[in-house]
Amino acid sequence: MDEKWLKKLAAGQAVEEVQSGMVVGLGTGSTIYYALLKLGERIREGLKIVGIPTSEETEAIAAEQGIPLSTLAKHTAIDLTIDGADEVDANLDLIKGGRGALVREKIIAHASKRLVIVVDESKISKVLGANFSLPVEIVQFNWMATQRAIHPICGKSTLRGAGRKPFISDNGNYILDCHFGEIPHPAQTELQLNNIPGVVENGLFVNRADKVIIGTTSGIQIRTKGEVN
Ligand code: A5P
Repeated sequence: MDEKWLKKLAAGQAVEEVQSGMVVGLGTGSTIYYALLKLGERIREGLKIVGIPTSEETEAIAAEQGIPLSTLAKHTAIDLTIDGADEVDANLDLIKGGRGALVREKIIAHASKRLVIVVDESKISKVLGANFSLPVEIVQFNWMATQRAIHPICGKSTLRGAGRKPFISDNGNYILDCHFGEIPHPAQTELQLNNIPGVVENGLFVNRADKVIIGTTSGIQIRTKGEVN
């Protein structure tokens, strides 16, 4: 079974949790793409929801699929958000931001009553940072000073897109990919990074996911907050 199929499997299972009347947070990425297609299908069959997108990319796909869209100005609470992740540990803490949408994703996650994460099995790891660099969104103004201030915490980082054209987020900012190796204390690291002037947000999502749906070659695995994983 290839990765795409595993992503589709996990995304399809998450969409089954969506019910008419819900305000649904719509994550970003190649796994969420399949959730958006499935939601579009269900809407054409009569499902009535409002979606709040976490990126311009998702907004465009959702619009194509006929998903009615809104904002947090109109809906102060989100019933359920479905999003992807780059890495998931045993506590269901996450690294996100591989597609550069981490700021909006964290805002939407914070406003959500439930956050369901959909991944294929390659995203599971014992310790965050083992397989994926941590994205940190920073303002462009004097960004090298912000990078220097981050280095005592993470050691080394790369400006996303450097050497070609720096990647610019939907919010007009740069992203540093921080090469921690392992992040043994993600809660502490999340706060430390956000305390540096110039840092807008980082991709550590600690204690935010309620459920992780994993597409594996032997079927779907579900992990929920609070259970021993
Ligand atoms: C977007 O910035 C990210 O947080 C995505 O949710 C994450 O990168 C997962 O993307 P894929 O589903 O494409 O792996």
